[in-house]
Amino acid sequence: MFFERPDSGDLAVLVHIDFHIQSESYGPEEFVELAISAGADPVAVVSGSRQRPDARYFVGTGKLAEIKDIVDREEAEIVLFDHALTPSQERNLESYLQCRVIDRTGLILDIFARRARTHEGKLQVELAQLQHTSTRLIRGWTHLERQKGGIGMRGPGETQLETDRRLLRERIKSIQKRLAKVDAQRDQNRRSRSRSEMPVVSLVGYTNAGKSTLFNHVTGADVFAADQLFATLDPTLRRLDIEQVGTIILADTVGFIRQLPHRLIKAFQATLKESSEADLLLHVVDAADSYRDDNIAHVGVVLKEIGADEVPTLTVFNKIDALPTGEPRIDRDVDGNPYRVWLSARDGQGLDLLKQAVAELLAVDVFNEKLYLPSNCGRLRAMLFEHGAVKNERFDERGQSVLEVKLPKKDYLQILARAGMSEDQIEAA
Ligand code: GTP
Repeated sequence: MFFERPDSGDLAVLVHIDFHIQSESYGPEEFVELAISAGADPVAVVSGSRQRPDARYFVGTGKLAEIKDIVDREEAEIVLFDHALTPSQERNLESYLQCRVIDRTGLILDIFARRARTHEGKLQVELAQLQHTSTRLIRGWTHLERQKGGIGMRGPGETQLETDRRLLRERIKSIQKRLAKVDAQRDQNRRSRSRSEMPVVSLVGYTNAGKSTLFNHVTGADVFAADQLFATLDPTLRRLDIEQVGTIILADTVGFIRQLPHRLIKAFQATLKESSEADLLLHVVDAADSYRDDNIAHVGVVLKEIGADEVPTLTVFNKIDALPTGEPRIDRDVDGNPYRVWLSARDGQGLDLLKQAVAELLAVDVFNEKLYLPSNCGRLRAMLFEHGAVKNERFDERGQSVLEVKLPKKDYLQILARAGMSEDQIEAA
């Protein structure tokens, strides 16, 4: 199987270098979690700082010797770099250290390969992996013949590397074709969903923020929630009833991470489209994370990249149970509109406030009026009934229908247009 691997943890040495770039200054903790999520067994973290990467080995010769010592002493099978390495740096490091070297991109690809569950998710990851591999095909792996399987060796794997570029290109093309088909199907589903006129609310957030836990709690679904990065790779959709608004669709999506390999954002573009076309985004944040603000900023970058930065957003500060003074509450802007909710997805505190805030935000565009419909408006009347938008109907003394309707404003306008009418032809009561 393409993504199978032995389930034993590779003994791994982790390398994290600080380049004194303010926006990228973060500790190695997240990388350790990433490594564990990939099934590695970290035995040591080597830290250091440099002005810029060394062209040949990424790190300097002193650091290289230090890494080599630890690899030999610990009998490590793999060295993981918390950075993007060029193919030649990777090759040089492998020759020198005599063990496999994987960079941050390779590691994230690997985790994605393990987590993808749907057919589409698997295809997307495979495509990204093949593209990643194709830039590294030249290297030849003879210097590592004793290494078999393990992190970075699943996916295209050794046999794939032995095949020529033509085969690789063909495989990439065939996956792209299949993905285009799935994508078309997804568009079709999305269109029929939007015809059903249910608002779509999409959960986004940094990996491990608690999106799946929140999703499960509010929908009663059983989505895989784990203390692992990227437990959720494919969007999961559920219907949810919200008072005052009616049925909405809630979508759980893939977690974001800093330095998310660009190739992966592209690969997952179709999945992430779900977010860019949502009516409302719930940006879930681990409020107890010391890198909270950085994580928020990084999610902002990805949202921009997938064209979702214009979608109205409600920030959800999750995990208040882990804060010293964590009370559930709604924060409002100067106009009184909710922009942030504090809650705990795990113990359920504040979930009612979240629903209230979502209802308020989605209700902004609700058309909630009494209408006088003259007798020649039978078609419009029938369409409003068919839509389930009529709350009440009575007839006035002239026999004119007085309809109390409630539906999303955009649906109302669409129905009017389909009935061949304009807004000013209808009298409000
Ligand atoms: P990805 O799939 O990586 O994007 O993660 P996610 O955002 O879906 O996070 P998930 O729901 O899997 O939760 C990650 C971890 O945070 C799990 O161990 C949860 O149990 C934990 N968690 C979620 N919500 C809360 C909360 O309100 N309080 C605390 N203390 N932990 C929580």
